[in-house]
Amino acid sequence: MKFFADTAEIADIKELAATGLLDGVTTNPSLIAKSGRDFKEVTKEICALVDGPVSAEVVALDHETMMKEAEILRKIADNVCIKVPLTIDGLKTCKALTSDGTMVNVTLCFSATQALLAAKAGATFVSPFVGRHDDNGFDGMQLIADIRLIYDNYAFETEILVASVRHGIHVLEAAKIGADVMTAPPSVIKGLFKHVLTEKGIEGFLADWAKTGQSI
Ligand code: E4P
Repeated sequence: MKFFADTAEIADIKELAATGLLDGVTTNPSLIAKSGRDFKEVTKEICALVDGPVSAEVVALDHETMMKEAEILRKIADNVCIKVPLTIDGLKTCKALTSDGTMVNVTLCFSATQALLAAKAGATFVSPFVGRHDDNGFDGMQLIADIRLIYDNYAFETEILVASVRHGIHVLEAAKIGADVMTAPPSVIKGLFKHVLTEKGIEGFLADWAKTGQSI
């Protein structure tokens, strides 16, 4: 499963990229606003830090303007992936851009039938939001399982990008289902490295090692 960081914070992206485990980045208008940075400038910086896809989202609601925005965004770097909302105009834009070889991430997916439409539109990625789905009384992980089943039934190549990930259990369940990618805030990704028994184990080994008086 690929790991994307869901952030526009350069320091966090640098830290995660240094682990060699970061496969891409996703941003959205809220994350850009939170960063306080210029959209195009920060997207360019992020694209230079990671080899994989960097999602940059259009803000227009109509197809023509989405295409104009996508044209500007895709010129930023070769690894820009245009993010469009799961609407009729968004999917029209997805079809046009992917037919042209541009990567597209269809975002704000909340049903398996919406995901089916995204795949039919040739999306590179579809982003089902599991956390927001859970928040509204639905089962986010069931949504991922349903999409996996449908995509496998028809051998769609669209990658399932599990988004709105809130904790490690979301990551675990997504991996068990066979999702292709997950995007999570840096704090969630960093949390995956941690286990109380790992820390306790290191502490114990180092205490015993100190007794030997040796060094490596
Ligand atoms: C995905 O691409 C979105 O940026 C993101 O995962 C949304 O997550 P949220 O529900 O925590 O805002």
